[in-house]
Amino acid sequence: MVKVYTIASGKGGTGKTMVSVNLGTMLAQLGKETYLMDADIGMANVGLIMGLQDAPVTLHEVLAGKGKIDDAIYTTPGNLKVIPSGISLQGFQQADPEKIRDVMSELVKRCEFLLIDAPAGISKDGVVPLAIADEVILVVNPEISSIVDALKTKILTEVVGGHVLGCIINRTDQEKSDVITKKMEKVLGVRVIGIIPEDANVRRASSAKTPIVIKYPTSPASRAIKKIASDLAGIAYKEEKTTEAKEGFIDRFSRVLFRKKPE
Ligand SMILES: Nc1ncnc2c1ncn2[C@@H]1O[C@H](COP(=O)(O)OP(=O)(O)O)[C@@H](O)[C@H]1O
Ligand SMILES: [Mg+2]
Repeated sequence: MVKVYTIASGKGGTGKTMVSVNLGTMLAQLGKETYLMDADIGMANVGLIMGLQDAPVTLHEVLAGKGKIDDAIYTTPGNLKVIPSGISLQGFQQADPEKIRDVMSELVKRCEFLLIDAPAGISKDGVVPLAIADEVILVVNPEISSIVDALKTKILTEVVGGHVLGCIINRTDQEKSDVITKKMEKVLGVRVIGIIPEDANVRRASSAKTPIVIKYPTSPASRAIKKIASDLAGIAYKEEKTTEAKEGFIDRFSRVLFRKKPE
């Protein structure tokens, strides 16, 4: 059965795009046919961090009735199929968010998982993805403004007939995760489905335009994402032996030799 998840938050910058790209890539790596649609049509980022910024046909063209969905699907190296949005303001203005429903109906025929990277805020393009998903996953940072905005998004989801599966707490301080989980479940009133620690490799991976789960698969954030993906896919999660994303021997050797900074 196909599952459609919208990754939402309320507040911008909580890590929706990071989660969408990496959860999607991980599901694909687990052998699930997975698509990711960048429904953040105003502030499109998926294409940028996946190296698809020059994609000739994007969701913008499809939502403006100027392009075919088949031409807007790009297979990334992790085998995740991505439908990026364009970065032009004009493209955003011409795109009709209501058409996202039709695009979704078309995509669910082809995959096992469809992830939708939602925009922040409660404008029309933000509300449609909350209403059409089977489940909404909230990405929250452990800070009050993020929690309050996530609560608003949860209420809005329910108002428009959607359903919240739970939340992912992103950018945590690892030691405090138990306390944060309890607090979050109490305040937000949803299950915590995963905790992703603050991890400097996230930024490194996005500069390299590669998902962290591929570039640094054993780093703390990657392992947390793998656990969430395994749960969603109904696959038992195996903890890897390595504890940190270590620089490879050759990289370290050449860095010392050429006095380069670590990546
Ligand atoms: N777990 C993390 N550790 C470190 N940096 C992170 C983490 N998650 C996200 N970031 C950084 O936070 C910023 C915002 O993330 P992004 O996914 O673009 O948020 P959103 O899509 O919600 O606006 C990015 O620069 C990203 O690299
Ligand atoms: Mg984003």
